Amino acid sequence: MSCCFMCGNNTQQSGEGEQGENRVRIFSYNELRKATHDFSAANKIGEGGFGSVFRGRLKDGTMVAVKLLSATSRQGVREFINELTTISNTMHENLITLVGCCAEGSHRILAYNYLENNSLQHTLLGPGRSNIQFNWRARFKIAVGVARGLAFLHEEVHPHIIHRDIKASNILLDKDLTPKISDFGLARLLPPNATHVSTRVAGTTGYLAPEYALRGQVTRKSDIYSFGVLILEIVSGRCNYNARLPYEEQFLLERTWTSYEQGHLENIIDVDLEDDLDVEQACRFLKVGLLCTQDATKLRPSMTDVVRMLLGEMDVSTERITKPSVISGLGELQASDQQRSSDAHSLLLRSSTTIEPSTSSSDATTQSSL
Ligand SMILES: Nc1ncnc2c1ncn2[C@@H]1O[C@H](COP(=O)(O)OP(=O)(O)OP(=O)(O)O)[C@@H](O)[C@H]1O
Ligand SMILES: [Mg+2]
Repeated sequence: MSCCFMCGNNTQQSGEGEQGENRVRIFSYNELRKATHDFSAANKIGEGGFGSVFRGRLKDGTMVAVKLLSATSRQGVREFINELTTISNTMHENLITLVGCCAEGSHRILAYNYLENNSLQHTLLGPGRSNIQFNWRARFKIAVGVARGLAFLHEEVHPHIIHRDIKASNILLDKDLTPKISDFGLARLLPPNATHVSTRVAGTTGYLAPEYALRGQVTRKSDIYSFGVLILEIVSGRCNYNARLPYEEQFLLERTWTSYEQGHLENIIDVDLEDDLDVEQACRFLKVGLLCTQDATKLRPSMTDVVRMLLGEMDVSTERITKPSVISGLGELQASDQQRSSDAHSLLLRSSTTIEPSTSSSDATTQSSL
C-alpha cells in the first residue's frame, strides 16, 4: 500500500516544467521488495556512489528503478521526505521522474521511472557499445536535452540546484533516446561533510572541475565544466579518459584542445558517425565543450547560453577560448576523507594556468569534502 506525504513548508518552483503537486508517494518496504523480487541479483541493474539499483515492477505494472541508499545517506524521515518533495516537484522533460520513496525503519529507498535505454555511459561509451545507433541527430538531441535540463536546474528552479555529478552514467535514455538527467538533488540527502562522488569509477574524476576536485568548491560553474566534458564525449563517442591510448591521447579534453589549437577539431568527431553528420555543427559542439571547461570559472558560459550556442542562436566562433585545466592522478583516490585530503595535494594539474580563487559572488559556493 502506498500513500502520499504532504509537505507544508516547501518553497517550490516551476518554469518550463510542470507545476507539480506538493507531495511524494510513499511506498512500504514490502511493496518495493515485492516489486524487485526481493532485491534479487537478477534484477540488479547497477551500483553507484549512493548504493545499489534494482529494476522493479509495481503492482499497477509501472516499471521502476529502485535505488537503495547506503547507510551514509540515512537521515530522519521528515528531513528525508522534505528533500524528496523538492526533487519530485522539480519536473522537466530532461529530468528523471521520482515516482516515490520508502523511509521505513532504517531503510531509505528511492523509486524512479525506469528508463529502457540505460545510461549514456552504458550505451554510447561502454566497452562493447550497444545496438543503438547514435547518429548525429540522436547525439544532437541528447546534448541539447541535457543542456536544457541543466539550464532548468541552474536558472529556473528557485533556489537553484547544483547537480554536482554530471557524467555519462547520470544521463539516462528513454525509448526515444530523450535524455533524462538522474540523481539531481541527491547531494542534499548526505551529511554536510560527505560526498557520494564515486572516485572509484574510472573516468568519474575527469568530469570534475579543478576548483571542485582540488578545493571542494561546488558551484553552477563546476556543473558547467562537467557538462563540457560530457559534450566532448557525446561528439567523440569515447570516454573522457582512456589509459589504453598513447599518453598524449589519454585525456579527451587535452586532445580536443590540441586539435583546436591545430585548427583540426574535426579529428575529434566519432569516426562511426556517417550519413547525417553535420561537421560544422559537431565542431560547434566541441567548441562549446571547450568554452565550458575553461580554467577560469567566470569565462565559462551559463547553461542558458550553452543551449543557445548549441542551437546556433548565439555565435560561438567569435568567442575567445582559453586553455582548460585537466585533472589527472585522481584515479586511485580512496574513499575516506582523510585519504582524500592528503591525495588532493598529489593531484596533477595538466595545465600551468592558475585556478580562479573563487566564483562570482552571485553564485553561492558549497564546500564539499572531496
Ligand atoms: N531510472 C533508471 N532507469 C534505468 N536504469 C537506471 C536508472 N537509474 C539508474 N539506472 C542504472 O543503474 C546504474 C547505477 O546508477 P547509480 O546512479 O546508482 O550509479 P552511477 O550513476 O553509476 O554513479 P553515481 O552514484 O555516482 O550516480 C546506472 O548507471 C544505470 O545503468
Ligand atoms: Mg547515477
